[in-house]
Amino acid sequence: MRIAMIGTGYVGLVSGTCFSEFGIEVVCVDKDAAKIDMLKGGEIPIYEPGLDALVASNVKAGRLSFTTDLAEAMKGAQAVFIAVGTPSRRGDGHADLSYVYGAAREIAETMSGYTVVVTKSTVPVGTGREVARIIKETRPDADFDVCSNPEFLREGSAINDFMRPDRVVIGAESERAQEVMRQLYRVLYLIETPIVFTSLESSELIKYAANTFLATKITFINEIADLCEKVGADVHDVSRGIGLDGRIGKKFLHPGPGYGGSCFPKDTVALVKTAQDSGSPLRIVETVVDINDKRKKAMADKIIAACGGSVAGKTIAVLGLTFKPNTDDMRDAASLSILPALKAAGATVRAYDPEGMDEAKKLMPDLDYRDDAYATLEGADALVILTEWNQFRSLDLGRVKSLLKAPVMVDLRNIYEPAEMARAGFAYSCVGRPS
Ligand code: UGA
Repeated sequence: MRIAMIGTGYVGLVSGTCFSEFGIEVVCVDKDAAKIDMLKGGEIPIYEPGLDALVASNVKAGRLSFTTDLAEAMKGAQAVFIAVGTPSRRGDGHADLSYVYGAAREIAETMSGYTVVVTKSTVPVGTGREVARIIKETRPDADFDVCSNPEFLREGSAINDFMRPDRVVIGAESERAQEVMRQLYRVLYLIETPIVFTSLESSELIKYAANTFLATKITFINEIADLCEKVGADVHDVSRGIGLDGRIGKKFLHPGPGYGGSCFPKDTVALVKTAQDSGSPLRIVETVVDINDKRKKAMADKIIAACGGSVAGKTIAVLGLTFKPNTDDMRDAASLSILPALKAAGATVRAYDPEGMDEAKKLMPDLDYRDDAYATLEGADALVILTEWNQFRSLDLGRVKSLLKAPVMVDLRNIYEPAEMARAGFAYSCVGRPS
């Protein structure tokens, strides 16, 4: 089989590469010539563990290639995937679908023979029908079906998530389209992955409902963590105690500084808008969005409180800037709200992140960046852990203490044990645990 994948961002590049690993011939297309040149030269534009090796082996095997020419990519393709960006539209929070609809027009112009057009990007309910309408309008003679096939992979574990998913969701309404999609996911049938076929609308909504549910789950445990702090309970015990109930589940019950990244913040807001426009508001999600925004700001206050009520004239050492570990992605990272607030309160902020610093320097040029964790700590008044990179989990605490001016640690990811930190002589605060 042969497919074209339009868009070499996170979802497009990972999905295209993994489909080629499934044995399918994949041509990835992007308008950004510099990106395509990079990929042709074996360079990967994003940081994702294992992706470079997987791209290299599939390129070598002749199953994966890159081009800026959509017509060339579409030649002989049974399916074309749209995996372009759907950013938040400035002003109203709706998803901006101009790239998706632009791709639909171009596909229509180059299509020949029966083709399944698949939306892989996260797109609001109704987008698939509009893609079909655009293609029909552009090429009334086109022989095609539109499918929705949302992607559930996470940054940092993207390859495993794609290759061994909990399920695959496919909105496909004709037998012909379903058969093409079955062939593409043949490898997953072999490992008995549930494949859920639905209508276009249901599939589109499943993606938003899943992300929104997870964002709600995180927000719930974050608020329970705040309550734990007030009543002397330990949120880790509460998470475990409720998570062992199979109806609740253990995952996504880890408290922190509020969810970030390129998906949850954007998708929760977009679903709120869709629901309001449809006259069926999602009040829980509206509240989740509001709580999460306020939480990031509240985390700055928490740090200030740990520093004795003021950070004016103090130096705060920060480890971790990205929205989560194993990525260089800074989109909607908690650091982007917390660190400017500390600066506004008069602090000097020194920071280190293993992969996110290039991007962080563009977004927060006035921080003092250092090249390794320990260099960040020298003479600082407090250490703040913002992202749970593995290398921060096993810091040499004696060395940390001797480098800091005062042994103050604020761990917003709960990667240390309060009792251990007390023994090591730290004034330690974390999220939702007695310290
Ligand atoms: C998320 C979803 O998990 C994926 O299933 C989905 O495909 C993806 O969005 C998408 O729509 O493309 P991702 O944004 O890569 O994936 O990252 P997550 O691991 O879900 O983390 C999101 C945020 O929630 C991070 O800021 C993380 O620190 C936070 N989080 C996660 C918590 O605070 N607590 C948790 O227990 C879990």
